[in-house]
Amino acid sequence: MSSPAPSLSDRGSIESESITGTCSSPATSLDELVDDVTVKSEFKSDGDFAEPAPGLPPVPDADTPLVVDETDINTPDKWVKRDPRLVRLTGKHPFNSEARLDTLFAAGFLTPTSLFYVRNHGAVPKVNADRARNWKLRVHGLVQREATFSIADLKRMFPVVTLPITLVCAGNRRKEQNMVQKSLGFNWGAAGLSTALFTGVYLADVLEYVKPQRPSSKHVVFEGADADLPNGPYGTSQKLPVAANREKGMLIAWKMNGLDLEPDHGFPLRMVIPGQIGGRSVKWLTRIEISEVESQHYLHFNDNKMLPTQLGAQQARGEPHWWHDPKYIINDLNVNSAIAEPNHGEVLPVHPEDLVESQYQIKGYAYAGGGRRVTRTEISLDEGNSWALADIVYPEDLYRSVVVEDPVYGSLDLTERDTSFCWCFWSFNVSVEELTKCNAIMVRATDESQALQQRDMYWNATGMMNNWWFRVAIHHER
Ligand code: MTE
Repeated sequence: MSSPAPSLSDRGSIESESITGTCSSPATSLDELVDDVTVKSEFKSDGDFAEPAPGLPPVPDADTPLVVDETDINTPDKWVKRDPRLVRLTGKHPFNSEARLDTLFAAGFLTPTSLFYVRNHGAVPKVNADRARNWKLRVHGLVQREATFSIADLKRMFPVVTLPITLVCAGNRRKEQNMVQKSLGFNWGAAGLSTALFTGVYLADVLEYVKPQRPSSKHVVFEGADADLPNGPYGTSQKLPVAANREKGMLIAWKMNGLDLEPDHGFPLRMVIPGQIGGRSVKWLTRIEISEVESQHYLHFNDNKMLPTQLGAQQARGEPHWWHDPKYIINDLNVNSAIAEPNHGEVLPVHPEDLVESQYQIKGYAYAGGGRRVTRTEISLDEGNSWALADIVYPEDLYRSVVVEDPVYGSLDLTERDTSFCWCFWSFNVSVEELTKCNAIMVRATDESQALQQRDMYWNATGMMNNWWFRVAIHHER
């Protein structure tokens, strides 16, 4: 089969959502996006973490009451309450969802937990308080000191840290790929990512404690408690030298935004692997094994791979050797960006008087992988013929100046950390007049390794890592 990768000229034909109308009133300032972070840093500078608000206050969830979705009533998830603003992407169990992009973006740098995207391969393990208290994490395999930890043990034995981390599903923006040719995965929009303050201990510290045997130890394998998956529990692995590097920021975490993890997000214990695809952050974590070989879990091989574009979805499914080829594993995220304002489908009424003086502020997000920073975001209003720099803000950096010791969050000392684990925000001012003359807005980002989002889509059978230039088409109605 020949490569289905579309080129720039194909874009018009795959655009299903787009702006109707033209643009008007200046948008609110980018500062709004970092509001909650600013509040927190003021809070921190007081140095006051006494009751009733110990540590950083949890990110307030919106007032929307959580409910059991009708779709779950006859499923094992019938007890799981969720925010109805999460859009269920498959329409069925298990639960996979993202917020609307405008809702997610408006929520700011830290995503309220109830709006955090969810990717579950099966039912959510039901863990009551008693089981959580007695939750055991077994760390074993090629180690000199095998150990089993309760969460209390982890808190007692290792430094507790909190990091702001953006998790991104490898399928973020897959919908665009599925419109070219259906992949094996379901449609994620551009909101398959979220950011939270995660609290836990460094995986590197735990590895140091159990002392992997050298040189036989090569991989660190993680397993979750998913009980009902047809091919065994969810699991995956990291190479040992990467996992043992504290700078990579890998956490064994029990809190999210200052509160216990929610059931959907791994209660009571999960891995959080910054800078890598969300699929590496194993939820409901029960076991870590130091091994000579990578994870042998079914979904370690049969998910989170980016196969060569020549393989169509059905062909890929039928040829297991591709999935077992280590060349095609995805770990680090690739550089990516999206336009959130104006959003797809948004209608922006324009009055004649707006044309003269008004400015519109185009806004969006960007992220990179492997701890790398986004260094550039660029906007094109002429289908990629010319580009102009957008302004970038990094709300994550507000946490760098903060040195805190706190009963809930532990240490929040990011001052020495150079890595970037979070999304950043960009903005670009354009005159309304100019906007009314263009047919599309496009954004592309570059990271500090000079990786630049490419013009053409790299279609692949799993529909992963889609990061071609993000485009919002503008339809003019008079
Ligand atoms: N861990 C377990 N045990 N089971 C899962 O289904 N899904 C993975 C990962 N960890 C998964 C898991 C995938 S593909 C992603 S993208 C992230 O969890 C999503 O984390 P979230 O649901 O907390 O956003």
